[in-house]
Amino acid sequence: MAAQQPLYLKNIWYLAMYGGNLKKGKLLSKEILGEKIVFGRDKTGKPFAMKDNCPHRGVPLSYGWFDGDHIQCCYHGWKFDTDGICREIPALAPDSSINVCKIRTQSYPCREINKTIWIYFPEKKSAFEPKVQPPDLLLNAPENFRHVETVILPCNIDHSVIGLIDPAHVTFVHQSWFWRSSKSLRIKEKKFEPTPMGFKMSRHKPSSNSKGYKVLNGHTSTEINFEIPGNRIEHISVGEKNKIISITTLTPLNENETELNQFFYSSLNIVNFIWWPLKKLGKTFIGQDLDVFNKLKEGLQKNPKLLLVGDPDTQARWYYDLKKQWQQAQEDNTPFTNRLNPQILHWVT
Ligand code: FES
Ligand SMILES: [Fe+2]
Repeated sequence: MAAQQPLYLKNIWYLAMYGGNLKKGKLLSKEILGEKIVFGRDKTGKPFAMKDNCPHRGVPLSYGWFDGDHIQCCYHGWKFDTDGICREIPALAPDSSINVCKIRTQSYPCREINKTIWIYFPEKKSAFEPKVQPPDLLLNAPENFRHVETVILPCNIDHSVIGLIDPAHVTFVHQSWFWRSSKSLRIKEKKFEPTPMGFKMSRHKPSSNSKGYKVLNGHTSTEINFEIPGNRIEHISVGEKNKIISITTLTPLNENETELNQFFYSSLNIVNFIWWPLKKLGKTFIGQDLDVFNKLKEGLQKNPKLLLVGDPDTQARWYYDLKKQWQQAQEDNTPFTNRLNPQILHWVT
């Protein structure tokens, strides 16, 4: 029998945080994949990440001092550069023969892309070179960062992802079913195709019964990309020239909590009148998801057996397949190839 699949994928990038949260010269501690990580931004503005434990006696390095080049531990003053290499042990006599540079704390590859900071988790702690590139956010130059919403979902990464790509909950969670007559339910047909690390719902006109797009007042089309470990990128074209891009990322904090970030980018001018209603709608949707996730958490306490049924749950099954294939590729040390086939799915929402 196949070994149980691990909850977290490794050798892959996770969103760490919105870049604006990491100030120059400041340290920020955060749990990701159950590990405590200290993030910082050096003098030149480059972000870095390392294990938030001093290798000497384990005090979190985030309690130390950071001068923009080195972190100094608050306990015995050991100094580390932003690659995690020890550069100074103040208590050692000057003629000590100890090579302090041999001491290091685990550091993690860290990159900033369009105001988002990403961290790479290697399978082997000694591997410093990422095997894959951070995700392509599919943004073009005029598409500027507008806004970010952050919430913590009280569930593990798997439940959070399948909640994110689940079309069937929309009717009941994001629209009040009691005032939506069943007449407004439509059968939807969506075309899907594989992408290097996931799948995409091909560009289509949003259905006339979806409230989110109504704000945009016609002339819209949308394309939705999903890729492991849990990133959803939606490109909405508004009229001929403009785009709104909504990027939702899921970062496992630990086995019980997953951070959701939703970033908005747009080529539309910020004063454009549609911006505020859109932002408010995004907030409302996330609040509705959070509400149902709190109920889900209650239901999952006794670990019940669950079902994934038919086309509405097909994307969830694809997610588990992708995870399995990714895991296998890491074990075999072979490049990951996506084996999903193009498919048309139908559901009623
Ligand atoms: S615990 Fe960090 S220097 Fe001793
Ligand atoms: Fe939702």
